[in-house]
Amino acid sequence: MKTILVTGGTGYIGSHVCVQLLDAGYHVVIADNLINSKREVVDYIAQMTGKTPDFYQTDLLDADGLRAIFRAHPIDGVIHFAGLKAVGESVEQPLRYYTNNLTSTLNLLAVMQEAGCTVIVFSSSATVYGENNAVPFHEGMPVSATNPYGYTKVVQERMLTDIAAAQPELSVLLLRYFNPVGAHPSGLIGENPNGIPNNLMPYVAKVATGELPHVNVFGNDYDTPDGTGVRDYIHVCDLARGHVLGLQYAFGRTGTDIVNLGTGHGSSVLELIHAFSQACGHDLPYVIAPRRAGDIAECWADTKKAKEVLGFTTQVTLADMCRDSWNFICHQREQAH
Ligand code: NAD
Ligand code: UD1
Repeated sequence: MKTILVTGGTGYIGSHVCVQLLDAGYHVVIADNLINSKREVVDYIAQMTGKTPDFYQTDLLDADGLRAIFRAHPIDGVIHFAGLKAVGESVEQPLRYYTNNLTSTLNLLAVMQEAGCTVIVFSSSATVYGENNAVPFHEGMPVSATNPYGYTKVVQERMLTDIAAAQPELSVLLLRYFNPVGAHPSGLIGENPNGIPNNLMPYVAKVATGELPHVNVFGNDYDTPDGTGVRDYIHVCDLARGHVLGLQYAFGRTGTDIVNLGTGHGSSVLELIHAFSQACGHDLPYVIAPRRAGDIAECWADTKKAKEVLGFTTQVTLADMCRDSWNFICHQREQAH
């Protein structure tokens, strides 16, 4: 049984990946400082899988804390989710973003090297395709960014690639996620950001609950079929399955590889609002608002490589994503009462 360190494992995507790793027979060790997640997630993961992951409330900025985890467990591979991810916040607090995201990864790589751990799967983002590529985005395209968060991904990809080139025993897999949405069908884990959400699906969910009055549709004059922005929404459980396949792939090779995780299909803002209104059973009010600075018209994945190297294809539809997201929100509201 292989032991996998999952950094950021109590977070939105990490928690879904932990469930699938445990179900697949891996031993899971989580390191998370809980800056954007809760300790209860570990109990939910245990409830869902019948297996309890080892949990360390450790900040990856603390290299000694990380060392202690590698001393306590024979870590075979790492999936590295830990990081700050809010685009707007990264523009306001670039020093914090660069320090947290880059230093965490550097500490992790140094401690992995000391411990002789050679496999790392990294959470990158479609944001690295920047503004100047044409859809569908494929892994060979040049990368760039429009904000500090995006640059932390570009730089971390570069650091990992350079370090793998100098350490031929290393296996690095860079996974570029498109737009992860939805929740585990149990309703126990999912995404419910504090405050006013920046991303579309959590925002729409708060309109569905009545916490927010209407969706602001950021622009309806894009060169897209209905004029609104088009994105490649991928169910977080499909995304998690891609990680289990990615990890298996990374164990069988060395060097760096890059794989997109998306559906290969774009949906517009209006399509998503309509799909969510079907899921929650009532119409959702929206108003057309100005474009959001930094947004591109359309973004979806070229999925050929994911299919070829990982055997990965997605299984669920936008309707399933909305249903599971709504189910999670309803479950959380029941718990709160
Ligand atoms: P999340 O915020 O839910 O999870 C990240 C976790 O990392 C949180 O639990 C947080 O507490 C932890 N963390 C942050 N800094 C840490 C540190 N210094 N030490 C220890 N733990 C730390 O986010 P998520 O949506 O699950 O995203 C996971 C990863 O995937 C991130 O790297 C993110 O940039 C990347 N990603 C996310 C999306 C998305 O839309 N959700 C898209 C592309 C890429
Ligand atoms: C955003 C980030 C991106 C990050 C990704 C993670 C920005 C500029 N980009 O991308 O770096 O990797 O999240 O999932 O923040 N929309 C509305 N109304 C809203 C919110 C969004 O109309 O209230 C529209 C947007 O204009 C876009 C689509 O919905 O067309 C999706 O937006 P969002 O969920 O924020 O994701 P991205 O813009 O793809």
